[in-house]
Amino acid sequence: MKTEIVTIRKLDPPESVSDKLSYAGEIIRQGGLVAFPTETVYGLGGDALNPESSRKIYAAKGRPSDNPLIVHIADMAHLDRIVCEIPEKAQKLADAFWPGPLTMIFRKAAGVPYQTTGGLDTVAVRMPSHPLANLFIQKAGGYVAAPSANLSGKPSPTLARYVVQDMDGRIDMIIDADGVEIGLESTIVDVTCDVPVILRPGYITQQMLSSVVGEIDMDVTIYDSDCAHPPKAPGMKYRHYAPKGELVIVEGEPQEVVRYINEQTALHESAGKRTGIIGTQEMMAQYHASSVKDAGSRGDPKTIARCLYTFLREFDDEDIAYIYAESFGGICEDQGFGQAVMNRLLKAAGHRVIHV
Ligand code: TXA
Ligand code: MG
Repeated sequence: MKTEIVTIRKLDPPESVSDKLSYAGEIIRQGGLVAFPTETVYGLGGDALNPESSRKIYAAKGRPSDNPLIVHIADMAHLDRIVCEIPEKAQKLADAFWPGPLTMIFRKAAGVPYQTTGGLDTVAVRMPSHPLANLFIQKAGGYVAAPSANLSGKPSPTLARYVVQDMDGRIDMIIDADGVEIGLESTIVDVTCDVPVILRPGYITQQMLSSVVGEIDMDVTIYDSDCAHPPKAPGMKYRHYAPKGELVIVEGEPQEVVRYINEQTALHESAGKRTGIIGTQEMMAQYHASSVKDAGSRGDPKTIARCLYTFLREFDDEDIAYIYAESFGGICEDQGFGQAVMNRLLKAAGHRVIHV
């Protein structure tokens, strides 16, 4: 399949942007697939109400079909058609955080095909805040099913370049826009129970959610990797975002962490292996490796969130065999946005953590 790549830049005239998105929307209405930017990561969109479109999304990603898709909407009035009921707490959360990086799980209405929900009677819904995503969804008919636009098992794409790398030849169109703002996938909250439960941590934190609706639970599998239960978001059970090189997280006093990492990289480099480091700005000058990535300041998880998936892909391109990352905060309950970063980093590392 020939993939059309359509470029949209910030200063493009609104009419030209609107024309391009109308064309993209028409592809979705006809049952095709279009990758588009959101504020979290790039999404791979298809008509959420067309089972054939969902089938194509799974095929393009190489994704197991028991892993349900998020339905993206652009207008609160469109929610009624795809969910059975809107619980009061969900309405409050929508008022507070939509449009934005929050996905909520509802009981699904009959019109949502099981192909979109991976066979579940619930449906995940998100209203993105990215203006291009918003307009595109409207032009596409209002209901766009979209997982992250990566091949299954690869990091979610934060730049159009990585969408092209994974999806060229597999889908109809890629909208090449600027890089995303947040860099990690949305927070997922199940609102079908009395006390809403976080199934995937993200930019909207437990504290932010509970300031609006009170008590919020956290799926235990997020911070307990040895937990016997499967995660409630089916996608969280897969080993995601794994770089080709072996990634290890190193925890401890900052100077000890630097000493240990440099010792390891020196060992591997002398054996002819290329090494990489993800470190905080404060420690940058002290590191030695083939590739050293600056994750920004220790107290601010936003930079590392925005760069993490890019770093992981760059390490692959640079043929890095061993990667060491500083730890970016605990993975216990309510650590704010740092928790979402650590959740993704731990998955990428296959939970390999060394305490020094
Ligand atoms: O930020 C995001 O959410 C991005 C952008 C494109 O919007 N999308 C995204 O989609 O991350 P995806 O497919 O890569 O991840 C969706 C997650 C999976 O872990 C899936 O199992 C879970 O949402 N999910 C979807 N529907 C669900 C449902 N009905 N019940 C529980 N989990 C669900
Ligand atoms: Mg994904």
